[in-house]
Amino acid sequence: MAQFELRCIECGGTYDMSRPAYACSRCGNLLEVRLDIDISKERLAKAKHLGKPISVWRYRELIPVERESRVFSLNEGGTPLFKCARLGEKLGLKNLSIKFDGSNPTGSFKDRGMTVGITKAKELGMKVVTCASTGNTSASLAAYAGLADLKCVVLIPEGKVALGKLAQAMMHGAIVVSVRGNFDQALEIVMKSSEKLGMYVLNSVNPFRIEGQKTAAYEICDQLGGKSPDYLYIPVGNGGNSAAYWKGFAEYEALGAVSSHPVIRGIQSEGAAPVAHMFETGSKELVPVKKPDTVATAIRIGNPANWKKTVKAIKESGGHASTVSDDEILRAQESMARLEGIFAEPAGAAALAGLIKDLQLGKIDRDADIVCVSTGHGLKDPDVAIAHCTKPKTIEPSVEALGKLLEAD
Ligand code: F0G
Repeated sequence: MAQFELRCIECGGTYDMSRPAYACSRCGNLLEVRLDIDISKERLAKAKHLGKPISVWRYRELIPVERESRVFSLNEGGTPLFKCARLGEKLGLKNLSIKFDGSNPTGSFKDRGMTVGITKAKELGMKVVTCASTGNTSASLAAYAGLADLKCVVLIPEGKVALGKLAQAMMHGAIVVSVRGNFDQALEIVMKSSEKLGMYVLNSVNPFRIEGQKTAAYEICDQLGGKSPDYLYIPVGNGGNSAAYWKGFAEYEALGAVSSHPVIRGIQSEGAAPVAHMFETGSKELVPVKKPDTVATAIRIGNPANWKKTVKAIKESGGHASTVSDDEILRAQESMARLEGIFAEPAGAAALAGLIKDLQLGKIDRDADIVCVSTGHGLKDPDVAIAHCTKPKTIEPSVEALGKLLEAD
């Protein structure tokens, strides 16, 4: 009996892991890796994983790569879980923490998935990797493809990728293709062309990416001393990361590493909220947003490829998806930076914005253990930060001028 199985999320059809596959050839739904709990438990116990440094690869026994494979790593994961006392006090919360995945090697959570995805790409013998991206996936993929000596082709929506992310993809040597359209259209081209052009897709439709990203949930439980939080707030764009977190929490509970799981609160921007809309209306089908728009360009997505996975995940956790405005996102971004010293990009502040909104609506128990996931670093998007803040003040080069300025301030 194998420890891992690649299965369709809807019809349960199984697939060979030694070939590139993303969707079920029978029903068209996405694939996911399923763990055999007994085998995994035994392997994990033998590995004594808690004695190893905290990182994605601390959990190697729960990640479906071949035992003999060379792992392509930049030391991803092991990101801080900041206990946010000042922010907590301001919001009237006793136990608020932020999981800052912006401190990954390329500045976003994507690295967790990419170290596994690229390791898999090499196992499969692929030579070219590709993705469509709102920016972070392309930055991460470009870095890991360089490390593994793979050709990298990234498709980005023209004019809608934050400056830092674009600089990363270019510097790491990707072929950067700007598409006159949005992310959803770019992803459609990637999915339609990958097989014909021999490219391995490393968007979150790739089941192995999710296997890397789920480790963030294991880490949170370990960082809380073998306990799950009560609530997890997380931004939802294409829907992969929220599904990955849920997979991680559910697996860790099934493995007996923790005795409960959190309620997942998925947060979307008002201008790009097809998943939240499903929860509001009770609809069973996603209605794509044709022209998504938000200051949080990372989650400017109208037709999330993983919508079925994330809706299932949020529902299984007993959670809900809701929206925040751009203004709420920018205010949360500023609070994190000023009160806790955490500089997140706008999408990386959406979860906190969602929590603040829930508090205002009286939806959350103030004694609960709450974790907000901050997904990307603020330096990724300097333009938004500079536009939002007070401009620098200019003075003549003298002590008097400085004194006068500070007096007036
Ligand atoms: N936060 C950040 C900073 C992101 O870059 C993304 C997605 C998300 C949240 C949403 O995660 O898509 O798994 O629901 N960025 C992708 C990209 C789409 O291309 O970089 P999701």
